[in-house]
Amino acid sequence: MKKRLGIISLFVLLFIAFIAIWNFSYQQGLEEAYIPVEERSSDYYLPSEAGVFERSEYATEYANMPVDENHQRLLKDYYKNRAYHGAPPSIPHPVEEMNLGDNTCLKCHQNGGFVNKYKAYASVTPHPEMINCRQCHVAQNSNTLFKATNMAQVNAPKVGVNNALIGTPPMIPHQIQMRENCLSCHAGPAAPKEIRVTHPERVNCRQCHVPTDKVVSEITPFSRTKIDSNE
Ligand code: HEC
Ligand code: HEC
Ligand code: HEC
Ligand code: HEC
Repeated sequence: MKKRLGIISLFVLLFIAFIAIWNFSYQQGLEEAYIPVEERSSDYYLPSEAGVFERSEYATEYANMPVDENHQRLLKDYYKNRAYHGAPPSIPHPVEEMNLGDNTCLKCHQNGGFVNKYKAYASVTPHPEMINCRQCHVAQNSNTLFKATNMAQVNAPKVGVNNALIGTPPMIPHQIQMRENCLSCHAGPAAPKEIRVTHPERVNCRQCHVPTDKVVSEITPFSRTKIDSNE
């Protein structure tokens, strides 16, 4: 009797062990068949083109924003604050109470918006991370030069002539360095009328717009000729 009980319990144990091992290997087999879906992360983009998407969370808002006809900027006015094409614009409003390196400037220039005091829309900065704004942007203390100069003006590239064919996406006529963040200049109420994009919702700008491959020619060093003999 004892012997028979021993054999039965041995088989019961073996049976339980079989179930457990089979179950374990069955579960493992299931796991192998499971391919985890990868989360989208910021390094999903090409690093060199990541700047393009910096403001894409606002793209649909830009698309639905009405145009404020009374306060539209023209390219002509846009160039007025710039010594040459691509130069940091000078600050056309008072800055007395605004400190260097403070976040004051970003209160208006991070996302733009209408400022009653200046009766204009603040332009959105393409580089909110460069926190020392007044290192590069200076207040306008005079409308004339301190001293006459023979430095040649570099003309800005023309707009509206960069399409290969009618209806094709125009090539980007300007450099991309410090202009990675397309929507900051090309969308919203502070964007100059001529370059305000009709399709801010197509966020992957560089999928369709390619930079012109014009070779930058070397220019000779600038030398000042004597203009003022009374110095
Ligand atoms: C109260 C909101 C406000 C604050 C704060 C402010 N700005 Fe402005 N800024 C504006 C507005 C509005 C304009 C457009 C003015 C115009 O077109 O006449 C402007 C224009 C500019 C421009 C010219 C932009 C262009 O595209 O030509 C620069 C540069 C600038 N601001 C820099 C600064 C800096 C640097 C600071 C911090 C020291 C600062 N701003 C703080 C509202 C502000
Ligand atoms: C390292 C120098 C540098 C610093 C620091 C800097 N900027 Fe600029 N900024 C520039 C240059 C250069 C341009 C012109 C870019 C161009 O036309 O390609 C510019 C352009 C701008 C424009 C006009 C964008 C447009 O529509 O063309 C605004 C507004 C602006 N900056 C605001 C700011 C604010 C606000 C800060 C501080 C948070 C700041 N900048 C810090 C160099 C700088
Ligand atoms: C600092 C502001 C600024 C940024 C950032 C910027 N642009 Fe521009 N873009 C301009 C200005 C101003 C013009 C007019 C020509 C000039 O002055 O360079 C222009 C012109 C263009 C044109 C020609 C439009 C036409 O009708 O011929 C295209 C296309 C363009 N930009 C695409 C882009 C793309 C794509 C990006 C992002 C990689 C970008 N831009 C980033 C300011 C900017
Ligand atoms: C799917 C392709 C595509 C994408 C993505 C795209 N564009 Fe365009 N873009 C075009 C075409 C096509 C035109 C020419 C439209 C025409 O001539 O009617 C154009 C025209 C433009 C112009 C000239 C003014 C205008 O609106 O007609 C600018 C500036 C511009 N695009 C900037 C941008 C910016 C900034 C982005 C990213 C937010 C962008 N584009 C994304 C295809 C594209």
